[in-house]
Amino acid sequence: MNLNNPKLYHRALIGSLLLGGSALAAQNTLAAEIAIACGPGDASDYCPIAAQAWAEKTGNTVQVVSTPNSATEKLSLYQQLLGSQSSDIDVMLIDIVWPGMLDDHLVDLAEHLPEDATDGFFPALVDNNTVEGRLVAMPWFTDAGLLYYRKDLLEKYGHEVPETWQQLTETATEIQAAEREAGNDDFWGFSFQGRAYEGLTCNALEWVASHGGGTIVDDQGEVTIDNPRAAAALDLAASWVGTISPEGALNHTEEETRGIFQSGNALFLRNWPYVWALANGEGSEVAAKIGMAPLPHGPEGESKATLGGWNLAVSRYSEHPELAADLVAFITSREQQKAHAIQMGMNPTIEALYQDEEVLASNPSMSELYETLTNGVPRPATVTGDSYARVSNAFFNRTHQVLSGDLDGASAVQQLGRELERLGRRGW
Ligand code: GLC
Repeated sequence: MNLNNPKLYHRALIGSLLLGGSALAAQNTLAAEIAIACGPGDASDYCPIAAQAWAEKTGNTVQVVSTPNSATEKLSLYQQLLGSQSSDIDVMLIDIVWPGMLDDHLVDLAEHLPEDATDGFFPALVDNNTVEGRLVAMPWFTDAGLLYYRKDLLEKYGHEVPETWQQLTETATEIQAAEREAGNDDFWGFSFQGRAYEGLTCNALEWVASHGGGTIVDDQGEVTIDNPRAAAALDLAASWVGTISPEGALNHTEEETRGIFQSGNALFLRNWPYVWALANGEGSEVAAKIGMAPLPHGPEGESKATLGGWNLAVSRYSEHPELAADLVAFITSREQQKAHAIQMGMNPTIEALYQDEEVLASNPSMSELYETLTNGVPRPATVTGDSYARVSNAFFNRTHQVLSGDLDGASAVQQLGRELERLGRRGW
């Protein structure tokens, strides 16, 4: 199936859902079938494993529906399903920036789960998922942008891990040239996610915020993007395309960039924590040759990691909200989060797991990540609520034009400023 064609994908998904539904009707058993929309269903996807464990424990069945990799495509699929009040999906994996957009279609989990259900979870994540007093999702794992680097190559050429974007640019330029000279024509200095989608919003927010250029819209709802530091950050990123980063970066999401790094063809990679276990795993060309560090910063800023993460929610149109909420509680339980952290290096949303010896032994960087996660920069989703997708789309589209050389940083932030002012004029 072509995951890059959302229309085809949607049709195929609905096809598989209808099949699942009729099979269930034919079975006519008492136990229910719960359909859960998870990740892409690849090696890094623990959701099907956890869902299956719940099915075995409770005697119900689960239908795991895989969804597109790109957060933007996943969102449009959910919006179509929820907009048509479809009962085909009971449980869905939702991005940290979606509660304010999808809340009308989601069940208040507090009505189905025990009172202490959120005890021990990071309060900021529980707050993020609570919209007008309703708990619309349980936090499953948390994310923050990181810099991955080739330890072996920095040592070989006598360079430190860069602390500023300027240093990253210089080191990447030098080592890329030397590696190409040594015969690897496919070698790049820096791989990042530059496709026009939510992932670019995450990357560009890090560039802008780490230049001291703010967070697009501030906590009070004021549009702040039209400033010279933000413009400089975007111009610097544009200078990477075709020099230290491939032209193809303009169409890369997380997985393409992981592929480049993992096959030994990039010095630096911006990505999320999930890459660590895979890049050190079997079949990776760079296993044991890599390190992880905070992202660089601009001349006047400090390092900023965009906060990401995924949550589990129950559709308001589910015919089995009670069971669906039980599945959510199971997957987000301490035991399952611990397994997820140990097996796949995912970052728990339960604070105490960051002190768990087995978790720390499986991933030594987990304690460092704790710092990065707790200092991460949120996208302006809470303050812009329903309008967040439009804000993010405007930001990633303008940024993409700058990366493509169609617009300079100053014009881009000026246009964006006007666009966003218009959007937010009557309050977000
Ligand atoms: C990661 C983050 C998510 C973000 C997405 C963008 O999956 O966890 O919050 O929206 O990347 O690609």
